[in-house]
Order: sequence, then structure tokens, then C-alpha cells
Amino acid sequence: MTEPQDIDAPLTAAAAFLVLTINSGDEAMDQARLVVASIEDLLKDIKIQVNTGIFTCNLGISHHAWEPLTRKPLPKELKPFQEIRGAQHTAVATEGDLLYHVRADSVDLVVEFEKILLEAFGDSVTAVDDVTGFRYYNGRDLLEFVDGTANPIGLSLPAATLVGEEDPAYAGGSYVVIQKYLHDLKDWRAQTTETQEQIIGRTKFDNIELPDATEGQKSHKTLCTIEDAEGEHDILRDNMPFATPGKGEYGTYFIGYSRHLWVTEKMLERMFIGDPPPLHDRILDYSRAVTGVTFFCPPRKFLVDLAD
Ligand code: HEM
Repeated sequence: MTEPQDIDAPLTAAAAFLVLTINSGDEAMDQARLVVASIEDLLKDIKIQVNTGIFTCNLGISHHAWEPLTRKPLPKELKPFQEIRGAQHTAVATEGDLLYHVRADSVDLVVEFEKILLEAFGDSVTAVDDVTGFRYYNGRDLLEFVDGTANPIGLSLPAATLVGEEDPAYAGGSYVVIQKYLHDLKDWRAQTTETQEQIIGRTKFDNIELPDATEGQKSHKTLCTIEDAEGEHDILRDNMPFATPGKGEYGTYFIGYSRHLWVTEKMLERMFIGDPPPLHDRILDYSRAVTGVTFFCPPRKFLVDLAD
């Protein structure tokens, strides 16, 4: 397997999600390709300035940009984010050619990196989304539940997130899905703690798992547990809270890395359509998805070789 990007980096105090589209014309595409290929050098410019902390950036390329940008065949499962229309809630599909997922111990490094990156791109791209998230107390999301607990660790982490021999040309790569959610905190806070816990599937104060419902309405945790004859299929989530209190905007930026794209897609289907339908994930009654894009993060060498 060729060396992956920093898919397994830990949750940090700050993270940015920068989504770009490549402008039309051969010149813009050529320029974008050069900047994409120079990711290692751009990262070095920042990393040398970081004392002991963490600074990582993963770069994803969407189905739309893959062939014109890379001039290589598509990774086996890469396709555009499919809109999912449930009886009450929709997982919208939005535009995006490139994703830069930056993780750092402080926002200054995130801003510095984005600045030099966007200067390098010049007129070749348009930023369609740029959100910087922060670590909320005890690793909680803005619904005030600890978020990220069930993430795979140890050897399960690469097994859940990195493509293997099923697609040898792209072994070491990872599928990544992003969705920006905006919360209705007033309505959420109007619910009792017990109701909130039933919706999430864990206790609020001490983060203990509640038993799975065997029938009827399932919790978020249960709907996102994907099991088949091979066992449980995990993904790696690096969700970050973000907020602009003055505008009343409070949200969760969902990001999920997986070895198999279908696993994340299945979770979304169970959340939005429900299992059984129409019993959708009640987290959606308080959280509206306003974006949805799928990318593939190829191994490092693949990106660097694009310069040739
Ligand atoms: C579990 C929050 C969206 C997949 C959880 C937990 C919380 C949470 C608090 C329980 C603790 C944990 O294990 O992390 C949220 C919020 C979301 C969101 C606030 C957006 C509003 C999603 C989406 C997916 C997803 C879109 C997948 C497509 C999962 C998975 C688990 C989980 C796989 C662990 C299930 C298990 O226990 O095995 N989420 N989540 N989440 N969530 Fe989400």
C-alpha cells in the first residue's frame, strides 16, 4: 500500500473545511493541478513553524473534477454525492471539486495555510464553502453530546478507512463525505435530557451507550451502526462544531472517512429514509443538512505525481 494522507490524525482544537470548485478553461485546470500536486511543499512551509503540535491537511478530489484534473481512471466507488429524499428531511447534494480538511492546534495556522494555498491557486478556483470549527468542551458537539466516541482505533482504524486490495491502483486512499448541518438549538434545548438521550442513543452527562431499540424508532447511534455477515462496518468521523452566535448560527460539520463509500451512504440512507421507513433519525428534526459532497483522498504519491 502506498503512503496514505493523514487520514488517521487525531481530533484537534481547530479544523477547517475548505471546498473549492475549479474555474472553467484549460488554464485554470492546469494551474489547479500544479497546486494540488504541490500539497507536500505547501504543508512543509507551515509544518516547520509548528513547535510540538499537530498540523495536517487532507486533500480530496470529487467525481466531477477527477478525470479532468488527474487524467487517471476513477477510483472504483467514486461517484457524486447522491441526494437522499426522506419523507421529512433531505440530504442535499451540493457542488465541490476539491476539499482541504485542515487540522491544527490553533486557528492561526489554519488561516495561514489557507492564505498561502489560495494565493497559489490564484484565479483558478472559487471557494464555495470555508468553515473553521473549534473543539467544544469535553469534545462535545453543539447539541452538547460527546461526539466521536465510537470511532475505530488501533488496527481497526486503517481497516475501516483505507482502500485495500479491492482497488489496487488506489490502495491507501480514502473516501470522504462532508455535510454541513445547522442546528435549531432553541427547539433542541426545549427537549428533556431524556428525550435528547433517546435521540442520540447515549447518556448526556457521562456518555454511556443506551441499549439499541429492537423495534420502532431507533436512535442515531443505532441507525449509524452498519452490520452484515462480515460484522460491523465503521467509518472515521472528525465532526467539528462551528458557530457565529451573532447570526444565530450553530452547527456541526460532519466529515466521514471510509474504505468503502457504500458504508457512509448506507448510514445516510438509514438516517434520512429511516429504518424502518419513515422513522428517520430524529437528530434531523433539529439539524438541517445544507451541503453534501463526496471526495476521494488519494495516497500522497498520487498527488505529487500529478505534477509530471
Ligand atoms: C455517533 C452526533 C451526523 C455517523 C454519534 C454520536 C453523536 C453524534 C453525539 C454518539 C457518540 C459517538 O459515538 O460519536 C452527530 C451529529 C451529527 C451527526 C451532531 C450531525 C448533525 C452523522 C452522520 C453520520 C454519522 C451524517 C454518517 C453518515 C455516526 C456513527 C456513529 C455516530 C457511525 C457511531 C455509531 C456507533 O455507536 O457505532 N453521532 N452525528 N453521524 N454517528 Fe453521528
